[in-house]
Amino acid sequence: MRGDLIVVFGGSGFVGRQVVRALAKAGKRVRVPMRRPHLGHELRVMGDVGQVQLVQANLRYPESVARALEGAGGVVNLVGLLSEKGPQTFAAIQAEGAGVVARAAAARGITRLVHMSAIGADPNSPARYGRTKAAAEAAVRAALPGAVILRPSIVFGPEDNFFNRFADMAKFAPALPLIGGGKTKLQPVYVGDVAAAVVAALDLERARGRVFELGGPRIYTFKDLLAFTLRETARARALVPLPFFLAHPLGMLLDAAFRLWPFADAPLTGDQVQMLRRDNVAHTEDGIGSLFDLGVTERESVEAIVPGYLWRFRPHGQFEPKPA
Ligand SMILES: NC(=O)c1ccc[n+]([C@@H]2O[C@H](COP(=O)([O-])OP(=O)(O)OC[C@H]3O[C@@H](n4cnc5c(N)ncnc54)[C@H](OP(=O)(O)O)[C@@H]3O)[C@@H](O)[C@H]2O)c1
Repeated sequence: MRGDLIVVFGGSGFVGRQVVRALAKAGKRVRVPMRRPHLGHELRVMGDVGQVQLVQANLRYPESVARALEGAGGVVNLVGLLSEKGPQTFAAIQAEGAGVVARAAAARGITRLVHMSAIGADPNSPARYGRTKAAAEAAVRAALPGAVILRPSIVFGPEDNFFNRFADMAKFAPALPLIGGGKTKLQPVYVGDVAAAVVAALDLERARGRVFELGGPRIYTFKDLLAFTLRETARARALVPLPFFLAHPLGMLLDAAFRLWPFADAPLTGDQVQMLRRDNVAHTEDGIGSLFDLGVTERESVEAIVPGYLWRFRPHGQFEPKPA
């Protein structure tokens, strides 16, 4: 059945793997276009035999995107970057790439598109990440006015890039940086709840053409979350305030160094520092919807989920008592 096949760009990523699993569980056929489909075995076993299909595509090559959409009834675009490297730039992947997917879908007559943006998508954002996310939203809307745009706050789950990154940093560093004094507000949202929102957004008629901001049940400061990470990993580390005017050049320096190193991303970039200048919490004004509006009414909390995967960073394993 035509409407049954959902193409998930970015399905191999942290959020993507949960989205593929949720779609397969919901009975959809799923196609995941990947740059290196031979590395996607983990995805194939998320559904019945043949339910999850891997194909080769790269958002920088529009003809590969058009090919990947053959026979599709719906599209999810989760492709995004945390930092830039070589041809993988925010402009090429987040802004231009999103337009490529939306225009290719429109050309095939596909109207169900869920596009993953981020809270902070704003043409006036101090960060290139935020500006290119805004450009992506505009390109998606221009091609497919009925597309659903989801903007999560930071997303947590066993393979996340936030708690794991700072827990890893605390293994070696004598102190963790409280960027901008640690006052930025964040509303972490569980990856499973984000995946449920994607599945709902694909099929809900009332979601068409709308924007949803996805946040978890509590708002924390950046400092609260670093203190929580240290407690859960049983690491006694200082939290040292690092003003934005120092954190920004330090991030730029790390970014420049890691661009030359193909095996890892920078632990912090100047652009990530710029994103922290603004609070990252879900809004509901101006017709913006929420997780609740997408039927996700029971949101998982940081306290319930994160300890289940941070224990592996404790010096002596999961039975080491946490500091009071
Ligand atoms: N994680 C968060 O806290 C968070 C918060 C807000 C918004 N978001 C947004 O949510 C989306 C998913 O985030 P994530 O954390 O799952 O990111 P991720 O783990 O880094 O995954 C990114 C995905 O994009 C794919 N990709 C990168 N370049 C590509 C290209 N040129 N062509 C095709 N695919 C390409 C990657 O595939 P390969 O296997 O080929 O590398 C991977 O599947 C992103 O749009 C991100 O901006 C995430």
